[in-house]
Amino acid sequence: MSDENLQQRIEDAIRDPKNLGEMQGADAVGTVGSADCGDMLRMWVKFKEQDGKKIIDRATFQTFGCETAIAVASVATELIAGKTVDEALSMSGSDLSAPLGPLPPMKIHCAQLVEGALRSALAPEQAAMPVEQTLQAPAQAPSLFDQFGAATEKKVKVVLENKPKD
Ligand code: FES
Repeated sequence: MSDENLQQRIEDAIRDPKNLGEMQGADAVGTVGSADCGDMLRMWVKFKEQDGKKIIDRATFQTFGCETAIAVASVATELIAGKTVDEALSMSGSDLSAPLGPLPPMKIHCAQLVEGALRSALAPEQAAMPVEQTLQAPAQAPSLFDQFGAATEKKVKVVLENKPKD
């Protein structure tokens, strides 16, 4: 797949991102920050029972991330709907971004940000580098935007500048 195709798919995905926004009543929430670029992503997951199995009903996300992270989160939240926790946890960043095609090396961490947020939500005890060590109950978890505002007030430095351009 050519780079233009990839760019086109990313643009299509961010023009109409799926499952964007905080989810009220989520069963799980996970947040990660990228050590590579300082971007952040939060994912909410709701489960349901189907045929005696617990499966992912739906997932949503918010991000202070690049276009690729938004595009990957959009396709990934669609991909994981209907999967069990184990099935979703077995997916790598490249599985989750597969509908976009292979990502160039400098964008692989963008898909890993999505994978990390998903892992943080589904298996917090295994997740690497959660931004929050102690997550509040999902229903009370502040939105990423609220928290980001609070972080700014407390003068916590969050790096958003110098992001690689898409
Ligand atoms: Fe860091 Fe994409 S998530 S540049």
